[in-house]
Amino acid sequence: MSVTVRDVQSFRDRGERFVMLTAYDALSAKLLDEAGIPLILVGDTLGMVMLGHDSTLPVTMEDMLHHTAAVRRGTTNALVIGDMPFMSYQASLEEGFRNAGRFLKEAGAHAVKLEGGGRVLDLVARLTDSGIPVMAHLGLTPQSVNQFGGYKVQGRNDEAAYRMLEDAKELEAAGAFALVLEAVPAELGKKITANLHIPTIGIGAGPHTSGQVLVWHDFLGINQAKVAKFVKRYANLGDDIKEAASAFAREVADGTYPGDEHSYE
Ligand code: KIV
Repeated sequence: MSVTVRDVQSFRDRGERFVMLTAYDALSAKLLDEAGIPLILVGDTLGMVMLGHDSTLPVTMEDMLHHTAAVRRGTTNALVIGDMPFMSYQASLEEGFRNAGRFLKEAGAHAVKLEGGGRVLDLVARLTDSGIPVMAHLGLTPQSVNQFGGYKVQGRNDEAAYRMLEDAKELEAAGAFALVLEAVPAELGKKITANLHIPTIGIGAGPHTSGQVLVWHDFLGINQAKVAKFVKRYANLGDDIKEAASAFAREVADGTYPGDEHSYE
């Protein structure tokens, strides 16, 4: 049975903690799907971890549709969420509406994610009203990195924390089916979660959110750069890949590979 947005609400209602992971291609998504990961986000982090940009801002709709379609081809069970890139929904309601529709129509996504509070409420309401489930995203929303003056923890003072809680309630009222909370103090993550009926999904938002999300290259240790405090590496594939590449080069150089077992008669 494929995971639906209703299942995600049931996780929350039953108090069952769940996870979301990012993926950007079919085979990676297939591995996550087979591991039983219920939610796969095709994040606009692809700009940084796949395309080598230093922020998510250059990511285009075409980039996102291309990778979201690949992820969908690799999955059978997971709920696939396509992340709306910078400037695909900021300029007008109409443009945001059409671009969100493209994720479902052209890439086969089951839902979209978009960043921000007040300014996206009308869009969230219109999308959910039209059958396009929306995952909201508050806190350190990377598309606003220039506004924030860097990748900084958000909601640290009372006023900012109050504003974020109000934004969260408004997003829920507008119809969002889940809310990502990124880089906020654990207490605020807890408070927002307690004040909503929809699930929250934390990344650097402490242990009290309904679910947790990590980025593919971070949790697998493929990204060997200095990562945010909230990242836990569950594998060291970066080292494994380097070792495998060196072993291949060594065995070709010394004639060990290819052996008879790898050669045709
Ligand atoms: O783009 C992304 O991968 C994200 C997650 C970090 C939540 O937004």
